[in-house]
Amino acid sequence: MAKHYCLSIVLFISLTRIRDVSSDILCDAEFCPKFIEEQGCSNTSPNCGINNATHSGLSLPSPTLCNCCDFCLPLIGEGEHCSVGGPGLGTTIGRCGHGLTCVRSDDGNICKRMDTPCHRAQDDYDLRHSKGETGALEERPSCDGKGMYASFSCVPTQTCFCQSEEGKRIFGEVLYSGQSVKNVMHCGCSRFHEKITKSLRDSARYPIIGPRCTADGNYNPIQCIDKVCNCVDRVTGEIIEGTEGRRRRIDLDEQPLTDLECYDPQYDLFPQQSVGTPPFNYTTPCLNNIQARVELVRESEELGYNVNHASDWPVCLPDGTFGRVTLTRNRSRICVDERGRQIEDYEAFGNTDEYDSMDCKCAQTSLLMTSSTERPVCCKNGNFRRIQCRRGVCRCVDSDGRQMGREAADVTRLPCYTANWRTC
Ligand SMILES: *[C@@H]1O[C@H](CO)[C@@H](O)[C@H](O)[C@H]1NC(C)=O
Ligand SMILES: *[C@@H]1O[C@H](CO)[C@@H](O)[C@H](O)[C@H]1NC(C)=O
Ligand SMILES: *[C@@H]1O[C@H](CO)[C@@H](O)[C@H](O)[C@H]1NC(C)=O
Repeated sequence: MAKHYCLSIVLFISLTRIRDVSSDILCDAEFCPKFIEEQGCSNTSPNCGINNATHSGLSLPSPTLCNCCDFCLPLIGEGEHCSVGGPGLGTTIGRCGHGLTCVRSDDGNICKRMDTPCHRAQDDYDLRHSKGETGALEERPSCDGKGMYASFSCVPTQTCFCQSEEGKRIFGEVLYSGQSVKNVMHCGCSRFHEKITKSLRDSARYPIIGPRCTADGNYNPIQCIDKVCNCVDRVTGEIIEGTEGRRRRIDLDEQPLTDLECYDPQYDLFPQQSVGTPPFNYTTPCLNNIQARVELVRESEELGYNVNHASDWPVCLPDGTFGRVTLTRNRSRICVDERGRQIEDYEAFGNTDEYDSMDCKCAQTSLLMTSSTERPVCCKNGNFRRIQCRRGVCRCVDSDGRQMGREAADVTRLPCYTANWRTC
């Protein structure tokens, strides 16, 4: 068997360096043809052209001058030999495949599956699946190449929602559309939001306002810094640089958002800010609340007295709204959509369990599924009913509507069955 060598992270960084530095100096269009003619390219691993269970590879910039040659980093499969080291240590280089890591064992170094919570969740699923204990609408957890949770999780036939690397549900939900959901659900904005609020929550003096997201967890096409707004890529959040004659950047002190090329009314939750006369705005009532609090605290500090500010900053959703559960004048709670409109007649009254536990997740899912005939059944407060039935069989679900365990035609056989199951 051929010997493989793992490539360390350090090499990755140096590969990138070679490209960046050299491209400034001599890597023009004429350089590479000449270089290849004079020096030739060494054979690359065939792995990048193959993609099966045992053979795969990553196409990377080659570690040659100006990256003139093609380069393929073979990915080593589970159970195969690897060795921690650099390219100087052998002729064949490679790295353990996605989700694998090089570990020392009795017969040398072997690529093994990483031990992570997501991989353990997969193992748990696989074990239950082999015993026939998983449900028809239960999804095997998806992990990424580092063994962390994939960016979203689905309830087949219902919706998919964004999740953090730790597998915690975060902002962003779309209608389930089978495999093609991958093309719309990137959750980059939602995940970025989650990361900065988590890492800066305790250290930052004032609340951190993250990028503006849309209901599917992608970046809003418009992002503003102070009063300058840019069009950005919905997936990466990167600014799309302006080309001649197109409007990809505006100043709100002179122009409304609607002048931007990327303006899309479906993502503008507060269109009234773009009508009338300048100055225009791109804020939200929730963000204004935070702003007002910040100013109050700053003022108090300048004047030398203290407003209690550390603990209870108002929180806005990544789309800038207050949230999907709102308080009415009657002091009851209702479920609302992103524009603040009540969803059906979901409501809960004070001093009840329904009020305290109200999350409106089922109401949101049901709203996305408006045109479906198989919407989930929600409790009076908009939460998922613990037992959901579809096509003659019933199943237990968690608070996100995900099936837990096997389904049954007889509800009384379900572990979550209670006599009042119909009414939550
Ligand atoms: C994958 O492709 C390689 C090279 O073509 C071949 O030798 C190997 O048997 C293939 N493996 C599987 C599982 O198909
Ligand atoms: C934008 O906000 C400013 C300050 O709050 C306000 O005076 C102005 O009327 C707003 N503009 C629009 C078009 O709503
Ligand atoms: C308050 O409660 C009354 C009686 O239940 C109802 O008619 C009214 O619509 C409620 N108002 C709001 C704002 O929810």
